[in-house]
Amino acid sequence: MTLHISLVGRKQLSVEVYRQVRDAIVCGTLRPDERLPASRELAADLGVSRMTVTVAFERLAAEGLVISRVGDGTYVTADAAGSRSNPRRRQIQGVLQPRHLWQSVPLPTAFAERARFDFRTGNPDVSLFPSATWRRLLVAALREQPLTERIYGDPAGHRGLREAIARHVSVSRGLTASPDDVTVTNGTQQALDVIGRVLLSKSDRVAVEDPGYWPPRRVFETLGARVVPVPVDREGLVIKALPRHVRAVYVTPSHQYPTGAPMTLPRRQALLDWAERHGAAILEDDYDSEFRFSARPLEPLRTLDATGRVIYIGSFSKTLLPTLRLGFIITPRSLQAAVHRAKFLADWHSAELPQAALARFINAGDFARHLRRINMVYRERHELISHLLARDFCDQLEVIPSGAGLHLATFARRASVDDIEAVANRARAAGVAIRTLASFSAGAQRRAGIVFGYGGIAALHIEEGLRRLRRCFSA
Ligand SMILES: Cc1ncc(COP(=O)(O)O)c(C=O)c1O
Repeated sequence: MTLHISLVGRKQLSVEVYRQVRDAIVCGTLRPDERLPASRELAADLGVSRMTVTVAFERLAAEGLVISRVGDGTYVTADAAGSRSNPRRRQIQGVLQPRHLWQSVPLPTAFAERARFDFRTGNPDVSLFPSATWRRLLVAALREQPLTERIYGDPAGHRGLREAIARHVSVSRGLTASPDDVTVTNGTQQALDVIGRVLLSKSDRVAVEDPGYWPPRRVFETLGARVVPVPVDREGLVIKALPRHVRAVYVTPSHQYPTGAPMTLPRRQALLDWAERHGAAILEDDYDSEFRFSARPLEPLRTLDATGRVIYIGSFSKTLLPTLRLGFIITPRSLQAAVHRAKFLADWHSAELPQAALARFINAGDFARHLRRINMVYRERHELISHLLARDFCDQLEVIPSGAGLHLATFARRASVDDIEAVANRARAAGVAIRTLASFSAGAQRRAGIVFGYGGIAALHIEEGLRRLRRCFSA
């Protein structure tokens, strides 16, 4: 290996030789056990005194990066790259530590894994995304609105998209909103982060559903709030279990995540009354209600809200693609300015080009057509799983009725939480990925059951996947 060292314009020549050789070792350009050039040769090459090179080599040896073998030469030590005495490595790892709570926040690595029969929840079928149309719309949006036209966009989002979303939620969800009420976000996740910043002070309490969707819990905790898990039954959140002094309640009323049960009308009314009495905000996550296979779902809580305490959150992650990172908040007027300011502080605004393409997609009727098409695909999977569970698992699992969304959940009739965990492990070995109901719990009350997602499995593979799962019960 020819070692390239440049001393042009440098003053402290020995320090410079030391620094450049050290960097070469740390970066792996010089490998363990590799021989360094002889000090005499290197000095001649560089046009410096031999002493300059010798001092540099001695310093490297003192730090354990090289070793001199008498009569042989100077070598990079075997453990130089990982050596604790390696100052650059210390610098790369860093001495700073995150706040304690960040150590327990998981990253959703599960999506990187693949399973042959994938019944995990949360993932739509990405092969249904209308790529060709989207490409065309991106090009059209770029043509109409060159990226160089403005410096920054509106933190509330692309005006055309806000108008399109306001119309879309009015038609599909019966929700009256003006474009000014809409803030475009990078998915539900950012919507919750922005709302949390606007509403929550340190140590405020936020009630969340249990079992429930874990990322909102973590968002609120990292903002300094105290999260209180509240049980869910077949009618939705158990209102009488809500603690006092709660600043906000996070719910998924259209299709409870993960039980799939819609919140009944009396329960919705009770939640609104409760929030009114306690001065709490309601964060309504309507993440997958566009998929409906039975009667029209109940209208959002937001449509029943007479006092402006419901904040509605929608997402295009399930209907289009999670990687688009497009979602929105419909905010009561009283919070509008603060939400726009919080979105600005978070990331100024979401990327404009995909927003402009989505506005076209909705306005041209492509979104409504796309929803009809994917609804048919998911309806078939939903019906097939419901049918097979009723036929082959009725002694083991009780299906929780739900006519919407991308998953359906079951309670175990006899098996315990641990039994179901063992079934899930055996299933994994047989190429079948499922989520246990207990894995969605935040509190002590864990219920035994299985949740079946069907975004990640084609109808064609469902029967074989469930057949393999069935065998895992009797093992
Ligand atoms: C309950 C719930 N809300 C929202 C989302 C979507 O989040 P995002 O819009 O950040 O992709 C998901 C995704 O799995 C979810 O399960």
